[in-house]
Amino acid sequence: MRVGLKNIKIRFMQYKAFVVEEKGGDYISSIKMLDTNDLPQGEVLVKVRYSSLNYKDALSATGNKGVTKNYPHTPGIDAAGVIVESISPFYNAGDEVIVTGYDLGMNTAGGFGEYIRVPADWVVKLPVGLSLKESMIIGTAGFTAAISLLRLTELVNPTDGKVVVTGATGGVGSVALTLLAQNGYQTVAVSGKEAEYPFLKQLGATEIISRKQFQQIEKRPILSAQYAGGVDTVGGTALENILKSLQPLGAVTTCGSVSSTQLNMTVFPFILRGVSLIGISAQNYPTYLRAGVWTKLANEWKPTHLMEIYNEIDRDDLPQAIQSILNGKLKGRTLVKISLS
Ligand SMILES: NC(=O)c1ccc[n+]([C@@H]2O[C@H](COP(=O)([O-])OP(=O)(O)OC[C@H]3O[C@@H](n4cnc5c(N)ncnc54)[C@H](OP(=O)(O)O)[C@@H]3O)[C@@H](O)[C@H]2O)c1
Repeated sequence: MRVGLKNIKIRFMQYKAFVVEEKGGDYISSIKMLDTNDLPQGEVLVKVRYSSLNYKDALSATGNKGVTKNYPHTPGIDAAGVIVESISPFYNAGDEVIVTGYDLGMNTAGGFGEYIRVPADWVVKLPVGLSLKESMIIGTAGFTAAISLLRLTELVNPTDGKVVVTGATGGVGSVALTLLAQNGYQTVAVSGKEAEYPFLKQLGATEIISRKQFQQIEKRPILSAQYAGGVDTVGGTALENILKSLQPLGAVTTCGSVSSTQLNMTVFPFILRGVSLIGISAQNYPTYLRAGVWTKLANEWKPTHLMEIYNEIDRDDLPQAIQSILNGKLKGRTLVKISLS
C-alpha cells in the first residue's frame, strides 16, 4: 500500500554516484558528487551498500532511450541497503531492504549511487537467511530466474524430461541452471563459451550444447520433441528452436532478447503439441508476490552455487564491466560494491 507522496527531504547529504551524461550524442560516465536533495520524491531513503550489473543497466549506461529517456542519469536497477529515513508506516530507519525493478535505474536514479529515494511499495524487507551482499549476487537476474522457475513448475515436473537453458553462463541463465538442478530437473545448457563448460557442469548442467549449433536456422515448422521445458534468455532463433522442440504440453519461459527481439515461426507447436510460451517480467512482477519469492530465495531456493557465480567489482570498474556484458562476455553475476556502511 502506498501512502501520500510527501517530500521527506529531512537531511541533505552529499554522496557519490556513477552518472551517465549525454554529450553531443555520446554517453560519458563518471563518478560525481550529488545531493540527496536532488533525488526524486518517495517515502523511503536508502543508503545503498550493494548493487549489481544487469544487461538493462548496460543499455541505460550507453544511451538506450527505450530504457532511459533523460540524462544525466544514475543507472542501477538493483539496490540493497539500509533505510535512513522513512515516512512509510511499513518501514523504519535501520531496516535492511532490497529494491529491484519498477522504474529504479531506468528513469529514477538507481543503485549505482550511494543513496536512492523510492516509493515504499518498491521495497522488500531483506528476508532472514539472506545478507545484503547475497541479495545482490542474486539481484534482478536471479529474481528473474526464480520467477521463471516458479511459472515453469506450474506446467513442467522434473520427471517430464529435460529443461533447456539458453544464455547459460549469463546472469539469468547461471542462476536458472542452479535452481533447476537443485529442484531435481535435468538440464541442457546452451552456451557460446566453450571454455566455461566446466563451470556449467559445476552448476548442474546435465548436457551442454554450443550456441552456434543450437541457433542454426531451422525452416521446418516443428522438430523432434526433445525437451519438457525451457528457460530462454536470448530470444530469436534459440527461442524458436525450443518452441519447435518441446514435447507435447511442454513450456518455455521468455525473458530476454540478447540475440533478437524477433520470433519467426508458425503456430504449429502450439496447436499440434499444445506447448506454452510464458512471458516473464521481473520489472512488473506484482508487489504482493515479491516478498514471497525473496523469502524462497533465502531458504529452500537459496542458490547452492551462489558463491561460485559472482565477481565483485567497485563502482570505478563499471565502465569496463558494462562493455563486457554488452559483448556477451560476462560470466554469472557481477556484484557492485557501493558503500561500506
Ligand atoms: N524480462 C525480464 O524481467 C528480465 C529480467 C532480467 C533480464 N532480462 C533480460 O534477459 C537477458 C539476459 O539477461 P542477463 O542478465 O542474463 O544477461 P547476461 O548476463 O549478459 O547473459 C546473457 C548471456 O546470453 C548469451 N549471449 C550473449 N550474446 C548472445 C547472442 N548474440 N546470441 C545468443 N546468446 C548470447 C551469453 O551466454 P553464453 O555465452 O553462455 O551463451 C551471455 O552471457 C537480457 O536480454 C536481459 O535484458 C529480462
